[in-house]
Amino acid sequence: MIHGSNLDEFLSDLDRYAAIGVLTPQLTADTLRRYLKGGLIVPEDLCDGEASGYSQRLLHASPSHSVVVLTWLPGQRTPIHDHIAWCVSGVVEGAEVDESFRLWRPAGSGRKVLAPAGRTTCTPGRVQLLVPPDEDIHRVSNGGTGRAVSLHVYGADISDNGGSSINRVFGQAVVAIPPAGSTLVSWRDTPSRRESIHS
Ligand SMILES: [Fe+2]
Repeated sequence: MIHGSNLDEFLSDLDRYAAIGVLTPQLTADTLRRYLKGGLIVPEDLCDGEASGYSQRLLHASPSHSVVVLTWLPGQRTPIHDHIAWCVSGVVEGAEVDESFRLWRPAGSGRKVLAPAGRTTCTPGRVQLLVPPDEDIHRVSNGGTGRAVSLHVYGADISDNGGSSINRVFGQAVVAIPPAGSTLVSWRDTPSRRESIHS
């Protein structure tokens, strides 16, 4: 797909790195940071928001990586989720709030609790790197009063997952401070592929 801007060069660079087997999360983050610093242009028709919820437009999908433009209108946010692979994101316009969570099991209980583990406000040029299992449960929301646009690169072919980068949605887990005696739940001990966590 030709976009008529340096977005094409960014996509070509990632393809070239993938072709020679060096496309790591860190190299992807460094490359995206360099393009954002130089003024990465995302065509307007890829940035339109949708009143029904945050929007995503798939620019590229291959076995090595996928690239998506995500747009949040004011007040919009993702569910709490994790991903099918590593994720590098960079803000193009506006402000995004990234909240991270850890999953705990209270002592003597089969329930699971999501504990807030950090909150970062990202403005244009800021690049975030999420690598499962330790950094991967999060929620992203528009942190400003205008449109927020970001590029996301995932280390997998998300077209294999119906075009979604999301692995699990933690829709029914309780967000709370874990009580004493709680045990951190391993990423690998929990259901995958869009199964909700039932408390
Ligand atoms: Fe995400």
